[in-house]
Amino acid sequence: MDAQIVSRKRVADHGEVYTRKREVNAMLNLVKSETERIDSRFLEPACGTGNFLVEILNRKLRVVESRYGKSPLEYERYAVMAVSSIYGIYILEDNVIACRERLFDIFEQHFAILYREACLDAVRYILERNIIWGDALSLCTVDDDTRPIVFSEWAFIGGGKVKRRDFTFHELLSFAGTRDNPLFSELGDEVFFPEPMREFAPVHYLKVADVESS
Ligand SMILES: C[S@@+](CC[C@H](N)C(=O)[O-])C[C@H]1O[C@@H](n2cnc3c(N)ncnc32)[C@H](O)[C@@H]1O
Repeated sequence: MDAQIVSRKRVADHGEVYTRKREVNAMLNLVKSETERIDSRFLEPACGTGNFLVEILNRKLRVVESRYGKSPLEYERYAVMAVSSIYGIYILEDNVIACRERLFDIFEQHFAILYREACLDAVRYILERNIIWGDALSLCTVDDDTRPIVFSEWAFIGGGKVKRRDFTFHELLSFAGTRDNPLFSELGDEVFFPEPMREFAPVHYLKVADVESS
């Protein structure tokens, strides 16, 4: 997708413009090692149809393929880890749907692996949660039922299990590493952790969607 606009009206109404692939790659190359770390988390707060996010997923999946391509089960687990680390927000619903679909298609088609159906269902669920129809300024969703944006952390804790914790975007931003309030420190300084609004019991990554019904 290399067109920069859909229509002049959408630019005027929503400021909708897209970044070209060449610029996306040049910008991602500035943080190249992070784009190639399978579990490094990325949030694009104005993700459009996902021009940055699809390239990040492509890069991560190339690493998964080169490391785990000979082991379908490991490939599957690390590929799910890669997709679960990618987050986006956008203000227009059609872009949000397109972004989820592009990420899903890349996940499904990247490598000649026959995913288990439960895996594809899990990825659909993760993308549903991670790519949010919302306003990155008000920090709220923009559907009929406006509420604070909530992100799920999917922590792979071993044995294929995932520990999910939900955080409001507001809470994450209020802890987003300032000099006085660091998220990480190698110097022994006190560090601060955002408070989850909800925690879930660990489940296998194929079952992440089941928690909603429990
Ligand atoms: C520079 S464009 C980048 C789009 C996309 N990241 C890309 O690179 O293709 C910024 C986008 O932010 C969207 N936008 C404007 N206000 C927003 C808001 N409050 N929340 C989320 N997105 C917003 C605009 O519609 C615009 O398409």
